Amino acid sequence: MAVEDLGDTVELTFPSSPKTKVTILKYGATVISWKVADVEQLWLSEGAKLDGSKPVRGGIPLVFPVFGKSAEEGFQALPQHGFARNSTPAEANPEVYSKWGKGDNDFTLFLTITLNDDNLTTKIEVSNSDSKPWTFNWLFHTYLKVNEIEDTLVNNLPGEECYDQLIAETYEEKSPAINFTQELDRIYKNVSTDKVVQVIELGKVVHNVKRVNLPDLVVWNPWVEKSKGMADFEPKSGYHKMVCIEPGHVHDFVELKPGESWTAEQIIYKGDAIKLQSI
Ligand code: BG6
Repeated sequence: MAVEDLGDTVELTFPSSPKTKVTILKYGATVISWKVADVEQLWLSEGAKLDGSKPVRGGIPLVFPVFGKSAEEGFQALPQHGFARNSTPAEANPEVYSKWGKGDNDFTLFLTITLNDDNLTTKIEVSNSDSKPWTFNWLFHTYLKVNEIEDTLVNNLPGEECYDQLIAETYEEKSPAINFTQELDRIYKNVSTDKVVQVIELGKVVHNVKRVNLPDLVVWNPWVEKSKGMADFEPKSGYHKMVCIEPGHVHDFVELKPGESWTAEQIIYKGDAIKLQSI
């Protein structure tokens, strides 16, 4: 894997296939592009800010130490999705970091990105270098590229417990494959990591998503109205071209004691075979 530091970004290239590459924006350690044989796999908004003025709309933003907003003590003051996505590798965003717990939780995040000819692995290690325990959520907020959301299905979630953020209700997913006809924002809880979630377009598998130590999965598409409300979501019709499949540990918090570390991985890979997995 060739690694090139281009200033604001780092590029990894797969040696035997130079058109297979991944680009990481140092701000937020955000993967902003992953190409397999020159074909882009991730969606990035044309209005995404890449200058460090706000988190990136697209690619793979990192969500830590809270997913969404939380009313739990130590998390109420944090903005949505925490501060990793608007920090630099050198320093946690001081303004936001100070709102986590009592503002002095000592931690290290270590992100490892591995590029292969047909897959991309993002691995996170969270370490507690503090003298007290603390808790956190983790999530890879992955924007996968699709050709047309209305032709897209996401499989292998029937039977799973799901919290629908739009109606604030929990129910069991009944659908053998989720389809998209309106805004969708769901947290699937405790989905066995044996299950690979597939994004299928017109009968063809376009992405496979595998998780290690990440029990929850958020599925999100903002559709028309929500896209209009996001200034950095461009073009406004861009929701046709993306689906967020977000592996995380968000249903409850992970607790880390002093000196402990926690690791988790997302693996996105190519592969045509439709595999149906029941509960
Ligand atoms: C998803 C959430 O993970 O992120 C949605 O489930 C949210 O509720 C979306 O709208 C985008 O969040 P943000 O903060 O990047 O606009």
